[in-house]
Amino acid sequence: MKQGFLEKLVAKLDRVDPAVVQAIVGRLLRENGFFVQVFEALREGVILLDMDSRVNYLNTAACRFFGLHAEMDMGKKLGDLVRGMNWQEMISQGTVVSRDMEVFYPDRRFLHFYLAPINDGDAPPGFVMIVNDVTTSRAETQATIESERLGALTLLAAGVAHEIGNPLNSLGIHLQLLDRKIKKLPPGERNELAGHLDTARQEIQRLDIILKQFLQAIRPSTLNRVKVNLGELCRETLKLLEPECAARGISISLEFDPIIPELELDAVQMQQVFHNLLRNASQAIRPDVDGLITIAMQCNDYELRVDISDNGVGISTEHMGVLFEPYRTTKEEGSGLGLLIVRRIIREHGGEMEIESREGSGTRVSLFLPLTVKRARLLPAPDRVIDVDI
Ligand SMILES: Nc1ncnc2c1ncn2[C@@H]1O[C@H](COP(=O)(O)OP(=O)(O)OP(=O)(O)O)[C@@H](O)[C@H]1O
Ligand SMILES: [Mg+2]
Repeated sequence: MKQGFLEKLVAKLDRVDPAVVQAIVGRLLRENGFFVQVFEALREGVILLDMDSRVNYLNTAACRFFGLHAEMDMGKKLGDLVRGMNWQEMISQGTVVSRDMEVFYPDRRFLHFYLAPINDGDAPPGFVMIVNDVTTSRAETQATIESERLGALTLLAAGVAHEIGNPLNSLGIHLQLLDRKIKKLPPGERNELAGHLDTARQEIQRLDIILKQFLQAIRPSTLNRVKVNLGELCRETLKLLEPECAARGISISLEFDPIIPELELDAVQMQQVFHNLLRNASQAIRPDVDGLITIAMQCNDYELRVDISDNGVGISTEHMGVLFEPYRTTKEEGSGLGLLIVRRIIREHGGEMEIESREGSGTRVSLFLPLTVKRARLLPAPDRVIDVDI
């Protein structure tokens, strides 16, 4: 029903039969109810704006994406509700705008929006904004770019290992020869030269370690899978780190399910996972804080979940995006390869990892490892009504 028709009807209202008016109003209400129901059922966010960028309508999905409330926020300017974007400027262009945006509240999401003018005859002009959640597809694209980048790095690493590894070996051998000759010199000359030789040897060792760590971080490895109880493996790793934690006043709490099934894992590599993550957790705890690291293990039908939480300094939002970049470290003595190694090992085991952190309060690293032996589980009975999440 066109707006123009309604205006004519209002103008002649005193001359129109009340029964006709009642029928028209009834129809309008039904039509309105129908469209509202359709909009509410959409996964896409829908926002209608007037020319001043004030919200005339917003559906449930839009409220969810931007953390808004339909009743409270109707009539407000979009710029006051979704800050950081110049909505008025986009609207004043009067053309279709199609862009991606990142929101941080109520959740961090990547959204794609499409803002188009509505000019429907007599209706007052305005804008419709359709919003799609593209967080997952963007993450997938990011993962592809990342794996391509890692692929390129692996190739480069193989070259580096060849080009640097060989001369390093030869340097080591020549230093050994020098060492033998220096030992034959009179003590006065020997001591000074021996000092220089030691420094050169240490530097070569350092280069060798850097090279090995780099290769370990990115080169795929062959897993030596054996049946492992991850709970016990974790306890063993803790024995190595406990003295350091105790000296720094950090308590460790274990919250393991009573039964942790054995998984087919590479025990040495998994020990390295625990070692890297527990060291990160303990290094993140400030000395003046009562430190607590909690390790939780839970098992469901298809995976074992390990959570390592600490009450350390946390990770800033900016740093969160570059955590897995090689050599990114906030520590004086760090290599910035620890998390990259952990992720490579977990992925090679068919698992995944997640990191959640709040700056100032702590970090939780979660590992999800698939159970090699899948246990049976009950499926819902066929006649049960299954709720579909829309
Ligand atoms: N539990 C944590 N709490 C706070 N920040 C963390 C935590 N784990 C990792 N980080 C941050 O991520 C960065 C990268 O970690 P990663 O383990 O890859 O390297 P590193 O710890 O710096 O060096 P290395 O592991 O070689 O000693 C760290 O420098 C730190 O800033
Ligand atoms: Mg580390």
